[in-house]
Amino acid sequence: MFERIREIWRRSNTAGEPYPAELAFMLRNPLRRLILSPTELLRRLDLAPTDRVLELGPGPGYFSLAVARALPSGHLVLVDLQPAMLEKVRRRLTRAGITQASYHAANAHALPLIDGSIDVAFLVAVIGEVPDPNQALLELYRVLRPGGRLHVTEQPGDADFLPRDRITELAKSAGFEPGRHWGRGNNYSAEFLRP
Ligand SMILES: C[S@@+](CC[C@H](N)C(=O)[O-])C[C@H]1O[C@@H](n2cnc3c(N)ncnc32)[C@H](O)[C@@H]1O
Repeated sequence: MFERIREIWRRSNTAGEPYPAELAFMLRNPLRRLILSPTELLRRLDLAPTDRVLELGPGPGYFSLAVARALPSGHLVLVDLQPAMLEKVRRRLTRAGITQASYHAANAHALPLIDGSIDVAFLVAVIGEVPDPNQALLELYRVLRPGGRLHVTEQPGDADFLPRDRITELAKSAGFEPGRHWGRGNNYSAEFLRP
């Protein structure tokens, strides 16, 4: 039992390892709004009600419900590596009566989506966990339509934190153009445009 707890804790603090589903309750902590509230993320995302939005790595869905509610005639596609995380977000959204959402257990390295099918893609505290962020950004580029937007948010207290200049470098090499950005230091969102 003690060994298992130690292993979960190790995974939560090791760069390049997916955040353990066993600690999903920590991602639902309402105090997270002091770092970034779902309302503030929505303001930054600047969505149209008809948008088809991809959330990569939603975990248990701290931000997903607010985003799904902002898409009354659009669609939210949720992709997470861990089926256990996906089940948690599915339960949360279904309980809230959200029907315009779909759920895919898949790796960011090979998104199960067709080319150009997404208007806006976003990820919060995810990109640093992906073993090959370059490949993930190429996949995000592929699934976004021309003129589509990618939003990357990174937050303090994350073992896998990637600074904005590193993400910008990676996004540019995947073909994106840098757009707006918000916040600073280890608490920021950066937007990239798919030409
Ligand atoms: C730290 S959690 C953040 C969850 C959520 N975005 C939030 O801010 O509450 C990172 C999430 O990314 C997912 N993830 C990690 N690596 C991934 C990959 N290669 N492909 C897809 N999802 C991944 C994990 O399973 C986990 O749910």
